[in-house]
Amino acid sequence: MTFYGIFFFYIIFWTAVVSPTPILKRGYKPKTNTIDLTIEKVTLAPDGFTRQLSTVNGQYPGPTIEVNKGDRILMKIRNKLGEPTAIHAHGMLQRGTPWYDGVPWMAQCVIPDDYEFTYNFTVPEEAGTHWYHAHETLQYVDGAFGALIVHDPDDPYKSEYDEEIIVMLNDYHHTNAQPLLKEFLTPEIPDNGLINGKNNFDCSKAPSGSKCVDNAGLAKFEFVKNKKYRLRIINTSAFSAFFFSIDKHEMEVIEADGSYTKRNKINRLPINVAQRYSVIVTANQPVDNYIMRSEFQKKCMPDAAANLPIIKAIVHYEGAPNDAEPKDNPWSDSLAECVDLDHKTLQPLKEEKIPEATKKFEFEIEFHKNKTGIVKAFLNGSSYIPDINFPTLDKIFKGKSSYERSANAYVFDKDGEVVDLYFINYDEGDHPFHIHGYQFWVLGTGDGDKVNKDELNTNNPIKRDTATIPGSGWMAIRFVSDNPGVWGIHCHMICYRSFRFCSLYCFFF
Ligand SMILES: *[C@@H]1O[C@H](CO)[C@@H](O)[C@H](O)[C@H]1NC(C)=O
Ligand SMILES: *[C@@H]1O[C@H](CO)[C@@H](O)[C@H](O)[C@H]1NC(C)=O
Ligand SMILES: *[C@@H]1O[C@H](CO)[C@@H](O)[C@H](O)[C@H]1NC(C)=O
Ligand SMILES: *[C@@H]1O[C@H](CO)[C@@H](O)[C@H](O)[C@H]1NC(C)=O
Repeated sequence: MTFYGIFFFYIIFWTAVVSPTPILKRGYKPKTNTIDLTIEKVTLAPDGFTRQLSTVNGQYPGPTIEVNKGDRILMKIRNKLGEPTAIHAHGMLQRGTPWYDGVPWMAQCVIPDDYEFTYNFTVPEEAGTHWYHAHETLQYVDGAFGALIVHDPDDPYKSEYDEEIIVMLNDYHHTNAQPLLKEFLTPEIPDNGLINGKNNFDCSKAPSGSKCVDNAGLAKFEFVKNKKYRLRIINTSAFSAFFFSIDKHEMEVIEADGSYTKRNKINRLPINVAQRYSVIVTANQPVDNYIMRSEFQKKCMPDAAANLPIIKAIVHYEGAPNDAEPKDNPWSDSLAECVDLDHKTLQPLKEEKIPEATKKFEFEIEFHKNKTGIVKAFLNGSSYIPDINFPTLDKIFKGKSSYERSANAYVFDKDGEVVDLYFINYDEGDHPFHIHGYQFWVLGTGDGDKVNKDELNTNNPIKRDTATIPGSGWMAIRFVSDNPGVWGIHCHMICYRSFRFCSLYCFFF
């Protein structure tokens, strides 16, 4: 069984904020992309079961944002949710614009209901597969998310695929996420899972009185024989890790969280919450229909998850019958559950000599009751509590330099510190950790409560922004503190926080 909860701590690094100038080859002229996003509640039935969702522009998932490396993004948020929100562009480093990171009480106050707020930032180095999502309470679990693709005019793999396809995988709940939160210690089993917002649901399992139709329809991906596709796979789950595969088709991993990798041939891709991968798939099978599948990794879920269905979509070759049921042809190679794709098999495309650590922190992760009997996540005995009246970045601007213990704040005042973070996870559940403002090198993961220093990979490790700490295990990561700001590092499973409005003066303009 897994406990679901949040660990949050953050890094404060402060010198002067400087925006970098993008270095682009091939003569691409960056432009400004203005994107209007209205966050609002809409009644939809993605899998046939009718419920209210928190959506972006009334769509589920929200609209895909596509820009080029070097561009400026103006995300104009209109909050019509009836409650406060904030939007995080996941995977964007926000170099020079830490106030647009979208994390309430670290980078900004929440955007009150019926207000507008514009996030204004550039993406000089963030080419890759990313996403944006509400970073306030559980709104993203209720639907407030979408893909954010930063195309690369200098993509080294550009000539190796013909088309791109976005595949968003998520677990899906028929109830609003807020009640889930209250029960977060009796982990909620999702009702279903979706691929690009679609799946069927057996309505006989819906509570009586609900509005539900069977066979709502699966997502369909069109292949043309012999063409090559870059699938950008994004895991936007609340809890669930998946194995992603397409029957009969091999995949070659080329990107992890925005880092190009050497080609790595696999049949089934493990993907954890908030991670992204690109794979190249060649339509080299006979013209037919095939099943694309996303399987819940049930070992990391409560026992009651055993009955969850395989989430399916259809890969339809041009010329194949339109309504034929594809044959079941799953890959049968076995994979370890609840751990990432072996980070050693993910080799960066460009070899990189990584610097020696100049600082090291070790953190112990535990769940236990606090003094009033509420089970919470603790990082070295401290459970994160945001200051909901005074965002941390604002504190820094106003010259405040000490923080409550419950802020879990670690301050770096030197540019270019090379920081090792060791996490020891005493919880039996795995936890996908995400860093804001940086990518980290994954030095190693393993079982037990001691980091095995002999197993650390400092020779060309993968650099990414989300990696899984195994249950009852450890993870060691390294990053360079060269991006001034206030940056969270946290487990990306749904989090326990409650927020109030803060007064408007907190806004920076
Ligand atoms: C976005 O930021 C740039 C750089 O600071 C500034 O020149 C521009 O006016 C801003 N745009 C908006 C709409 O705020
Ligand atoms: C998404 O991440 C969650 C959380 O770890 C994980 O349980 C789930 O398997 C991931 N989804 C996929 C498709 O891997
Ligand atoms: C966390 O606790 C461990 C064990 O007591 C200790 O070794 C480590 O230094 C602590 N880490 C920090 C950042 O204080
Ligand atoms: C325990 O956690 C609950 C929920 O966050 C909080 O309301 C309560 O104040 C906490 N108790 C202590 C002693 O920190």
